[in-house]
Amino acid sequence: MKTIHSLKEMQEYTALQRAEGKTVGLVPTMGALHEGHLSLIHAARKENDRVVVSIFVNPTQFGVNEDFDQYPRDLETDSKLAEKAGADIIFNPEAKDMYPTDISTSIKMGSIAEGLCGRYRPGHFDGVAIVVNKLFNLVNPHRAYFGQKDAQQVQVIRQMVQDLNMEVEIVSCPIIRESDGLAMSSRNIYLSEDERDSARLLNQALEEGRTFIEKGHRDPEELRQLIQKLLQSDPRLQVQYIEIVHPSTLQPLQFLQKPVMIALAVHIGKTRLIDNIIIEE
Ligand code: PAJ
Repeated sequence: MKTIHSLKEMQEYTALQRAEGKTVGLVPTMGALHEGHLSLIHAARKENDRVVVSIFVNPTQFGVNEDFDQYPRDLETDSKLAEKAGADIIFNPEAKDMYPTDISTSIKMGSIAEGLCGRYRPGHFDGVAIVVNKLFNLVNPHRAYFGQKDAQQVQVIRQMVQDLNMEVEIVSCPIIRESDGLAMSSRNIYLSEDERDSARLLNQALEEGRTFIEKGHRDPEELRQLIQKLLQSDPRLQVQYIEIVHPSTLQPLQFLQKPVMIALAVHIGKTRLIDNIIIEE
């Protein structure tokens, strides 16, 4: 499998594939690949002639007190995993090429980036939007694959693609979980054994939420309180937010009318975890 570092070489690769009538699928990642990432690569493999996996720990989406320096980086292991899952190309650009000192363009996402994580990570989705925009211009894929794990991210990208008339098709893929329900995340490795144990509660609380809705309850505030109580039963968990929203617009719901998305962010020690569940019609 080939690794491309050069931006120009990446653009030339897809130009050649397109000239030959081949379709290209892109899976954007920050590396530290796990089964969640690999599920996106599998989906891309099924639907495209060529699969590009980008690995780039994007500085512009990390806040000043966040884990940019600590973020796990292991290109060799990632390359092997990506190849096994069906990738043809690893695109691993350098920060100095992606963000030369004279860069002067930014993207400001609007209301779609304001609630949920956006409220607590100012500028985060602007950073995601610019890097994904650049990746789309460099890889020029027919389709790009994102995980529902980062539910707001998918909607931010969909909005950007719509607003900027981009041609790429956005495919969102289901959340992959550990056997005890914890959503897979590159950040789970930060958890101590005890914290890892407590982390199970996130999914359990979401599933309790599903049951509550399926029983026919109507009041989102009651649901929020139920989930909050469950999470707060463990002193290791610090709830950042629990929101009950429409899965596409991400707007808060007045009534528990399906489809409903319950999204939450929790700190366990120094680690921030997010999770969500969609209760379909
Ligand atoms: P990263 O956190 O590496 O995630 C890359 C992709 O994998 C995202 O689309 C994410 O939603 C998906 N993913 C992560 N965990 C998953 C899980 N348990 N199940 C299913 N999919 C999962 O998200 C980013 O990187 C960055 O913001 C990026 C889009 C690459 C821009 O820098």
